[in-house]
Amino acid sequence: MSRSRRDFLRAAGSLLGAGLLADVLPSPGVATDAMPGMQMRTAAARLAAPKQPLLNPARLAPFVDPLPRPARARPVGRREHPAWPGRLLPCYRMEMRAFAARLHRDLPPTPQWGYAGSSPGPTIEVERDEAVLVEWANALPARHFLPIDHTIHGAERDKPEVRAVTHVHGARVPADSDGWPEDWYVPGRSALGRYPNAQDAATLWYHDHAMGITRLNIYAGLYGAWLVRDAQERALGLPTDECDLPLFLCDRLIGRDGQLYYPVSDDPAAPWVMQCQGNAVLCNGKLFPYLDVEPRRYRLRLLNVANSSFFELALTHGLVFRQVGSDQGLLPAPVEHSRITLYPAERADVVVDFAGLARQRVQLQLQLHGGGILEFRVGERGRHDDSALPARLRPVPRLDVAAARDRVLTLGEVDDAGGNALRMLLDGKRWSDPVSERPHAGAVETWSFVNLSGDAHPVHLHLVRFQVLERRPFDLFAWNARRELKYTGPAQPPPPHEAGWKDTVRADPGMVTRIAVRFEGEPGRYVWHCHLLEHEDNEMMRPYELLPA
Ligand code: C2O
Ligand code: CU
Repeated sequence: MSRSRRDFLRAAGSLLGAGLLADVLPSPGVATDAMPGMQMRTAAARLAAPKQPLLNPARLAPFVDPLPRPARARPVGRREHPAWPGRLLPCYRMEMRAFAARLHRDLPPTPQWGYAGSSPGPTIEVERDEAVLVEWANALPARHFLPIDHTIHGAERDKPEVRAVTHVHGARVPADSDGWPEDWYVPGRSALGRYPNAQDAATLWYHDHAMGITRLNIYAGLYGAWLVRDAQERALGLPTDECDLPLFLCDRLIGRDGQLYYPVSDDPAAPWVMQCQGNAVLCNGKLFPYLDVEPRRYRLRLLNVANSSFFELALTHGLVFRQVGSDQGLLPAPVEHSRITLYPAERADVVVDFAGLARQRVQLQLQLHGGGILEFRVGERGRHDDSALPARLRPVPRLDVAAARDRVLTLGEVDDAGGNALRMLLDGKRWSDPVSERPHAGAVETWSFVNLSGDAHPVHLHLVRFQVLERRPFDLFAWNARRELKYTGPAQPPPPHEAGWKDTVRADPGMVTRIAVRFEGEPGRYVWHCHLLEHEDNEMMRPYELLPA
């Protein structure tokens, strides 16, 4: 066990000792960090005990609340965007508001923040190539209800406490509408984004991206689905309408009083913690909900929207997932698996067939330690299932990387020159260091993520979709001594479910994870980062600049 892991468990143990975390649901996996700098930081600042006793989810009656289905957002009218004069486009208005909602029948309402006052927020559904506008309005209160760390870059004391800016994760958008983390705005203000939707059908999601407090804003509930549809996908005949739904998964630390608790270090001046593990998993904002289904096929869009936990999912009754899509849309062919692992921000689009299971109660479970997240109550009979699951979905032509420029980028390098708090870094650089990745529009590049830390980081690039080429073990000592990339084993090709288009890739420890990207989009500044939100907020995020072709 790594030292940081021990420190974390010791800190958790002190909660146990205080009787606060008794029988917590030991459900989600946590990507822990074992790099030397992080160990020092965790050793110095341990988790503080929560002020309120935490809930024991095992004592709640399971499967008593219906699964919420996010509402479908409707445009409020037509509008022109200053950058697209003369085009009257459907315009949505999404207001970020504080609200309270029960996470479970037997809990008091939980104060949260959400788009349109719900979490998940309403689903924006668009057709490929049909541009829309969205006015993202900040109508949040003046004070944050989660612990801001003012020592973190971008969240200093001179910044307003409550700031927001929305990014549509996986969308190919002009830079002015991408949700640049420093383009945040305060309550009472809004931003008008333009979205061309010139991309394949895919399960995208929108969420907050404000500099230095993204982890808190998303934890508070600021996320929702953005579905792109297209004719090619529709022609496949996959399940539609009420048989096609998103399942947002995230873990939260919930108090007995129903309040969300965000973990803090024992240093009140620097409360940031390097990971956030909950005591319960929410599905579409509920604890252990149920869904009435018919004995037929369903299309479930699984999204991991957790801060730092990964989920390994399985179904009871020997049911399998038939995965039809990943982050950026359809796979070439369905991939059958009995378990699916999702790191933060990853998506799996799956078809599950409940035929032959009439009157059964099927559970979606966490594999590692068991524990149901969602119960499907299969009804007696339903209408005729006219959906299909074709053997071929959409070809994914492999990118030609023969002439591609390769960028070698490290994950988790330490910079302790100043003797300050140590942080996770990308290629040893901080957010404010000069832009170093400047691909040309239309160029194909390969990016090789050399993971120097002890744990996996889900790396996300804005704007683009990419292909996973390989993961290959390397010699960490040769790297540290001479910056020499010496492989110690063969390259491992991605498994079939990772062989489609992705926008977030798990970079394993001890491995070089190599992706191929065609940088399609409008020139401008975008970002790439680790999607463990605690890392992203604390310097594990970098700008990149798309240069003209
Ligand atoms: Cu899901 Cu930069 O974001
Ligand atoms: Cu990370």
